[in-house]
Amino acid sequence: MLAEWGLAELAEVAELLVSEITTNALRGSRALGQPLPSPIHLWLRADRLGLVIMVWDANPQPPIRKEAGHDAVSGRGLKIVEALSSRWGWYKPHDMGGKCVWCEIQAESQPMQHSAVSGQPRSSPDSRWLWS
Ligand SMILES: Nc1ncnc2c1ncn2[C@@H]1O[C@H](COP(=O)(O)OP(=O)(O)O)[C@@H](O)[C@H]1O
Ligand SMILES: [Mg+2]
Repeated sequence: MLAEWGLAELAEVAELLVSEITTNALRGSRALGQPLPSPIHLWLRADRLGLVIMVWDANPQPPIRKEAGHDAVSGRGLKIVEALSSRWGWYKPHDMGGKCVWCEIQAESQPMQHSAVSGQPRSSPDSRWLWS
């Protein structure tokens, strides 16, 4: 799909980020303890400047970036997201409950700019990614 969008160079990083964020969403959804975990939703949106990955799950608890020790086997996922994306964040959509965790990757032709708002609670992605 990314190749079709002319963003094949982002595929490897995108796969890793989708994997980290969807794994967290599945765990978040299971943590609600319902007999059947609720579905999660994944959206990919792209323009010529880059790609945004957005994942919704029904758990309202926010993602918490941990300071993982050197030998910790867990708690690295969001650090990877922070390192490989230009921005990431989460927000509570007003019409769905739960929360949406998102991250943005810039096309290689764009200079990598880590934004200061990264990981701030309740931050929405750039308005260009949002449905009007
Ligand atoms: N979608 C989510 N729903 C609820 N909690 C989350 C979600 N994503 C992340 N978290 C919280 O943030 C913590 C850190 O996530 P992460 O860095 O991926 O480490 P890990 O998944 O190995 O615990 C998780 O342990 C969890 O408490
Ligand atoms: Mg994780």
